[in-house]
Amino acid sequence: MFDTIAPRYDRFTRVFSFGMDRRWKAELIDWIRSALRPESRVLDLACGTGDLAFAAAGRAVRGSVRGVDASPKMIELARERATREAPHGNVRFQVGDMSSIDADTASVDVVTAGYGLRNVPQYEIAVREIARVLRPGGVLATLDFYRPESALWRPLFLAYLKAAGNWVGWLWHREPVVYGYIAPSIDHFVSWQQFAATLERSGLRVESVRRKLLGGVALHFARRV
Ligand SMILES: C[S@@+](CC[C@H](N)C(=O)[O-])C[C@H]1O[C@@H](n2cnc3c(N)ncnc32)[C@H](O)[C@@H]1O
Repeated sequence: MFDTIAPRYDRFTRVFSFGMDRRWKAELIDWIRSALRPESRVLDLACGTGDLAFAAAGRAVRGSVRGVDASPKMIELARERATREAPHGNVRFQVGDMSSIDADTASVDVVTAGYGLRNVPQYEIAVREIARVLRPGGVLATLDFYRPESALWRPLFLAYLKAAGNWVGWLWHREPVVYGYIAPSIDHFVSWQQFAATLERSGLRVESVRRKLLGGVALHFARRV
């Protein structure tokens, strides 16, 4: 599915979020600026076409940034972007699964993941993998949709995402499900509080959470104990 939507994914995200996606990603990178040192080793999981990886690479200029995604098409597009958007030559992209990260234990300073963990079958496994590869004191910063706890807000939020996703999926791909999956994937996911509790159980101390859209979106900042 992600191979199908890859060519239009970036445009979809900008339009679908009314530009908020770009702001949230900038906020996430700015938020972890003290962790992103020039020599940092960064892993961007479920990197898509590389938005967060390129932003991190602008800070870790003498370090290394690795973007990993399960979709070969996303990785192909990220590599194309790298020819234009990675002047420091410090970014590379590879196909991979965040449930089984190809990195040594305690070898990474910063992990980022934008809308990634919701998409893996068992996100707890990916969180454990993140905890494994982060060095003690290393930082995890995530941005994702979560199931709003409010029984009033949740149906409205999910109804918008479902209607807009189905409509754009049909319009662009003649396949509503390619974006229509977003609402059910959120409905089956956890709340931002439950996600924070999973991080804590996995050896990651949650230092801060920023909620957006009444808890429908959140940024989590956690540190490896
Ligand atoms: C909604 S996109 C997010 C892309 C990018 N991080 C962003 O913020 O624009 C979700 C991405 O997760 C990837 N993905 C899904 N399951 C994955 C897995 N098990 N391991 C790595 N990437 C995965 C998909 O291929 C897709 O590119």
